[in-house]
Amino acid sequence: MPNQSKNIILGISAGIAAYKMYDLVSDLKKLGHNINVVLTKDSINFVNELTLKVLSSNPVFCNMFAPELQTKPIHIDLADSADLILVSPATADIIAKIANGICDELITNILLAAKCPVYIAPAMNTNMWEHFTTQKNIETLVTKLGYKIIPPEQGDLACGYTGVGHIASNEKILNAVLNIKKDKTRGLGTKRVIVTAGGTREAVDPVRFIGNRSSGKMGIALADIAYEMGAEVVLVSTVPCDKPYQVIEVESAQEMQEVIESEFDKSDALIMAAAVSDFRPITASKQKIKKKNEDIVIELTRNPDILEILGRTKRDKQVIIGFSAESEDTEKNAWEKLQKKKIDIIVANDITVPDIGFGSDENAVMILTKDKEREVLQRQPKTQIARHICKKLAQMLNEVKEAKKV
Ligand code: CTP
Repeated sequence: MPNQSKNIILGISAGIAAYKMYDLVSDLKKLGHNINVVLTKDSINFVNELTLKVLSSNPVFCNMFAPELQTKPIHIDLADSADLILVSPATADIIAKIANGICDELITNILLAAKCPVYIAPAMNTNMWEHFTTQKNIETLVTKLGYKIIPPEQGDLACGYTGVGHIASNEKILNAVLNIKKDKTRGLGTKRVIVTAGGTREAVDPVRFIGNRSSGKMGIALADIAYEMGAEVVLVSTVPCDKPYQVIEVESAQEMQEVIESEFDKSDALIMAAAVSDFRPITASKQKIKKKNEDIVIELTRNPDILEILGRTKRDKQVIIGFSAESEDTEKNAWEKLQKKKIDIIVANDITVPDIGFGSDENAVMILTKDKEREVLQRQPKTQIARHICKKLAQMLNEVKEAKKV
C-alpha cells in the first residue's frame, strides 16, 4: 500500500521458488510500483523472460553486454534508478557472490554500484541454509552491508527435505519491502479494530458449500491500512492470509459471529466488509450426498445478522462500519440498512457495474454516515478506498472521544 510509487529492481536467482515471482511482480505492479526484473543466467531454467516482461511491462535484464543496451553501462543505470533492490529467491550461490563482491552476474554488479536499501529473500535446502559458509555470508550482508534479510521459513522443500529453507510468503516479502508497519502516531494509534473479510461458506455436506463471490480484497486492504495507521488489528477472514497482525480464519457465518462477539467488547471498532451468507442449510449432511435420479431440495434457514446484533448492543463510543452490496436502488437500500442495523457508516456499492467490486482490485462506492453525510468515491483501487474509510473511522473515533470530554 504505497504512499508513493517506487522503482524496484527484482533480482531473481536460480531456485525453484523463482516461479512465485510472477505473482510478486504482478502484486507490486498493481500497487503502483515500477519493476525492473534482473535474471541471473541460470534462473531462466525456472522462469520465463517473456512472462516477466509482460507482467512488469518493462524489459527484463539478464545480460551485461546485450547489444541493444544503451551507451551508459546498464548496471550503473539500473543501480542509479533504483529506490529499492530485492533479491528473491536468493540462492546460496548468489548470496555468496553478493557477500564477496563477485561480479559475474548483472545483479551482483548492480548491487555493488547501488546505494539504495537492499532486501534478500533466501530459499534453499535446509543443510545449505544452515551451512557455516551461508550463515557467515548472511552475517556479512546484514552487519557489513546493512542489507535486510527476509528469513526463509520452515516447510516442505522441493528437494524433499522438511526444514528451514522455504522462501517467505509473497505477503511477507511485500510487507517487508514496502515497509508496511504500524505507525502508532497515526490516526488509529490507540485503537483496536476488528475487520472481516471474504465470503462465508455454509456447509451442505463435507464437500459442498453455499458461498458467494467475495474475494476478501476489500476487507484485507482495510485491515492493512488500519494496521498502517497504528491500530491493533484483528482480521476475521474466510481467506487465509499471512499478515503482521492477528488473523483469525473462519468459514461459516456462525463461526464469524462467535469470533466477533468474543472480540468486540475489547475493541473500539468493527468494519464488516465480509459478505455474510444470509442463509445456511438447516442441516449439513455428515456424509457426501450421493446423486440419485431425482431432484433434491436443500432447506435453508436464516443466519444471524451479525451487524444488526452488534449495532443493537454496541457501546456509544464504539464505531461500526457496514457494507451494502446492491443490484438495484443502491442508495435507498443503503440508507435503510444504516438505520435498521443502527450502525455509524455504511459503504455501498452497485454490484451490477462491470469490472469492479467482487474479485477486482478496484471499486466505486458511496459512503453514508449516521449524521447524514454522503460521499461518492469514483472508481479507484480498493487500497485507496480503504485509506479513505479508515480516515473516516479515525475521525469518528476521535470525535467520540472529544464529545465525551465536553
Ligand atoms: N451482514 C451481516 N450478517 C449477515 C448478513 C450481512 O453482518 N447475516 C453484514 C455484511 O457484512 C454487510 C452488511 O451486513 O456489512 C450488509 O450486507 P448485505 O449483504 O449488503 O445486506 P443484507 O443485510 O444481507 O441484506 P440483503 O441481502 O437483503 O441486501
